[in-house]
Amino acid sequence: MEKRLIWDIPTRLFHWLLVICIVAQYLTVEVLDATAWHFRIGYFTLGLILFRLLWGFVGTTYARFSQFLTGPGKVLSYAKTITNPESAEHAGHNPMGGWMVIALLLLIALQGISGLFIGDDIINNGPYYDAVSEATRDTMNIIHHTAFNILLAAIALHIAAVVFYTRFKKQLLVPAMLHGKKTTNEPGISSSRLLVALVLVILVIGAMYYVIEIAPPAPAVDADMYY
Ligand code: HEM
Ligand code: HEM
Repeated sequence: MEKRLIWDIPTRLFHWLLVICIVAQYLTVEVLDATAWHFRIGYFTLGLILFRLLWGFVGTTYARFSQFLTGPGKVLSYAKTITNPESAEHAGHNPMGGWMVIALLLLIALQGISGLFIGDDIINNGPYYDAVSEATRDTMNIIHHTAFNILLAAIALHIAAVVFYTRFKKQLLVPAMLHGKKTTNEPGISSSRLLVALVLVILVIGAMYYVIEIAPPAPAVDADMYY
């Protein structure tokens, strides 16, 4: 067993930025009443998710979906061994954790996308507020509020799993998400593919600029403003 690089820099940076963003998203609406910042950080979070989805196809070995997404058979047989402290350690995400990653990414995407269609009833409306009917806005509002509660439950489960692996299975997952290295006999990655990541970042910035600034319809003029 040797100490080898498993998590590339973009994946690690993505993870901790995502954690900061989710905390900030909660604080901006529930504590600080800073909706404008909630929007800005929300766009950034959506950009992070888009980056991670693309990185799942062109990133390094253990960041790829094809590496950690397995069929129900493997997930079930892994689940049966989960309480065995001796069971094999995976260099990347384990078969259950892999699907949890997808659940977290999709929930956060749902949260961000639904936010684009709603407003705070004062002055700040998401960029697609005027693009849809009131009924759709109401639905998006329900999704935005409900998805966050589901997301909180998923995050609690995620953190509980990390604590379980650390305490019970003695696998040091958190330091690995910080410095990227694990003691393993599976092959490590040779680089973080930073040039590919940079190209993706540029693409994501372009796509987000289009979605937030160019594509949305002009805000509807409120007739009351003139009286
Ligand atoms: C807002 C809260 C959080 C969210 C949304 C979140 C989300 C995620 C996601 C999406 C991944 C997959 C990483 C990837 O492959 O791109 C992940 C992995 C991971 N997270 Fe978190 N996370 C959160 C909080 C935390 C906290 C507080 C810790 C530390 C205590 C933590 C530790 C880890 C570890 C160790 C992994 C790697 C798991 C493995 O080895 O399979 N996360 N997290
Ligand atoms: C992507 C991550 C996001 C997270 C985690 C998040 C989270 C939240 C939470 C927790 C609330 C409070 C819900 C409640 O009171 O039950 C909220 C409200 C809201 N969010 Fe988000 N949000 C995100 C993205 C966005 C985006 C991208 C927009 C719009 C551009 C947006 C617009 C709003 C609005 C307008 C409200 C209502 C604020 C109010 O009623 O004062 N959110 N969000």
